[in-house]
Order: sequence, then structure tokens, then C-alpha cells
Amino acid sequence: MIILAIETSCDETAVAVARFQRRKLEVLSNVVASQIKLHQRFGGVVPQLAARAHLHNLPTVLARAVKTAKVNPAQIDYLAFTQGPGLIPALLVGVNAARALGLAWDKPLLPINHLEGHIYANRLEKTGGKTYDLAPIHYPALALIVSGGHTQLVLMEAPGKLRIIGETLDDAAGEAFDKVAKILGLDYPGGPLLEKLAVRARADRFAFPRPMLNSKDFNFSFSGLKTAVLYEKMRYVTLTPKMKADFAASFQAAAVNVLVHKTLRAAEKFGAKEIMLGGGVAANRMLLKTLVRSSEERAVAADIYYPPKNLTTDNALMIAVAAHFNLAAGKKPISWREAKAQSNLRLK
Ligand code: KG4
Ligand code: ZN
Repeated sequence: MIILAIETSCDETAVAVARFQRRKLEVLSNVVASQIKLHQRFGGVVPQLAARAHLHNLPTVLARAVKTAKVNPAQIDYLAFTQGPGLIPALLVGVNAARALGLAWDKPLLPINHLEGHIYANRLEKTGGKTYDLAPIHYPALALIVSGGHTQLVLMEAPGKLRIIGETLDDAAGEAFDKVAKILGLDYPGGPLLEKLAVRARADRFAFPRPMLNSKDFNFSFSGLKTAVLYEKMRYVTLTPKMKADFAASFQAAAVNVLVHKTLRAAEKFGAKEIMLGGGVAANRMLLKTLVRSSEERAVAADIYYPPKNLTTDNALMIAVAAHFNLAAGKKPISWREAKAQSNLRLK
């Protein structure tokens, strides 16, 4: 079975072609055109600019993905596309491309939730340069999605049965990393730069708050933490490089602490057999290291999964993988006529 997937929910224009054979996946192509440079000077993604860039880039990204894959349209079984959540002007470009291809090539369409893409990217276990095994999921499983737009704890009770049990009440985790990075004078997106800066710095120099650490629910809040960093920084006229690094490390420790603590508490409560990390912030090695160490300390009997590093941030291969799992769970494809974008799409 061959799936061509399109992703344009935020600031990456992406198309992938993947061949699935039972538990095996061969990546025929995986093309991502990043718009980071375009949005950098604004310190965040500008939706209208993102849409224009998708419109400009998608035909060439698509052509390259199809050419690299060496497939002709007749060999493609399904067209998967990101339906939401995301920026509506950006989503519309990808959805419309999927509709046009569905009509022109007479193919069934699979609308995919972007966050499921981040979740199922966990199942990829590399076996060769372009081949992966798809690890079966042991239910109940718990996914922590931490991206620039979302922070959610998702309980997976059975194939295709996903339920949000907690989420951020204000900023997403990645957004908080980016905003704190900006406060420290780093470029956008600041998450990876902040992590680098924090290596070998003192994480206990500033005692930043751990918002909602002990609340009984599984929700998060990061905006107060960001403000605490801002106020602390305003106490100094200039920051030495050492202090800046300590700021980064102390913030990262607070954010990671809350994310890990709540995830493990949820894993304990729901008896999760697995914990999966997904979304851009899953690339953060301190988050992974802390999750592994704390789960051992607390004797949480869940296996920890995380996506291959190059597939943590937005890409279309994860959308193809999610489409595969959706089909396996019995989800029915739709016609191009029914394909819609939904910016606030929720997992259910
Ligand atoms: O999943 P993603 O590519 O896009 C969304 O769907 O939002 O996530 C991007 C986010 C950005 O906020 C970026 O700063 C953050 O992921 N990020 C990181 C790291 N790598 C990416 N945050 C912390 N540490 C990292 N190493
Ligand atoms: Zn994403």
C-alpha cells in the first residue's frame, strides 16, 4: 500500500510518499520546505505569510516528492492530508492540493489530525537507511504532545480511541521555550537554541515556579513561568553569557519538571503500558532524559517511546504513518468533495 501525504498546518510545506507492508514502512520520499527564515524576523509564524509560502512551495515540494519516490499516480492508494489543527490559511493550501489531486488522480482521501501525526511518529523504528519497523502499540498508552502550538496528554485506550486527559490552559510548551528564548535574545524558533545554551549551565540558580505541578488534574500552564523569567531578567541591566545560560537551564528545568511529573502521574493513574513523546519539544534531550530517569525512580512500568529526532518537528511522513494507523483502526477514506480544513480540530 502506498500513501502520499501532505502537511501544511504551520510553517513547513511537506510531502511524503511511503510504502507500507504489514509492519514495515519504506520511505520513498520525505520532502520538507521550512519557512523558518521567512518568519524569523517577526519572532513567530505569520499566518498570511505562511499561506503564501505554502502556495508558492507546495507544487515544487510535491513534484520533488513524487519524482524522488519514482512512483506514478496509478500506484498511489491513498492521499492523506492534515485536516487540522493549525493555521487556517496554511491548512487550506494543503487541503486544496489534496482535493485537486484526489479529483485528478481519482484517489480516496484520508483526513488526518496533525497531533496524531506527532503521536504515531513514535512507532518508527529504523531498520535501514529508508526502512522502518512500525512498533505495535500496547494499550492503554499515554502520549505527551509538546509542540509549538499544543501541549496535551492523550490517553490511547484502544486502536483509534484517543482521549485528551489534560492540556495547557494558556501557552504551549514549545511556545514557552520560544518566548523565553526571545527574552534571552535568541533567534526564532528558540527551543533548540535554548536547550543548547542550557547544557552544562546551572539549573538551580533561579528558582522559577512549577505552575500547576500539584493540581489534581492533568492540565498545564506555562505563561506564569515565562513571566517569572521575564521579571527576573528585568532585575539585571545586562546578562553575562554564564547568567544567560543559567536562565535557560533554570527555565528548562522548571518546564521539564512539570511535564514529566504530570505525565508520570497520569501513567500511574491509568496504568499506561507505554509513554510516547511527540511534537517539536520531544527533540529536547533533557525532557527525554528526565522522563526516563524519573520513571525509573518512581518505578512506573511503562516503556518510553520517542520519535526519530528528524521526525519530531513537522513533516508529512508522520501524517502518512498516522493515516496507516487510522486505516488499521477501521477509519474510512472520504472523497475529495468532502475534504475540509478545520483549524480547531480536536482528538476524539
Ligand atoms: O511540532 P513542531 O515542529 O510544530 C508545531 O506543530 O508547533 O514544534 C515546534 C516547536 C517550537 O516551539 C520549537 O522551539 C520547539 O518545538 N522545539 C524545541 C526543541 N526543538 C524544537 N523545544 C525545546 N527543545 C528542543 N530541542
Ligand atoms: Zn506539529
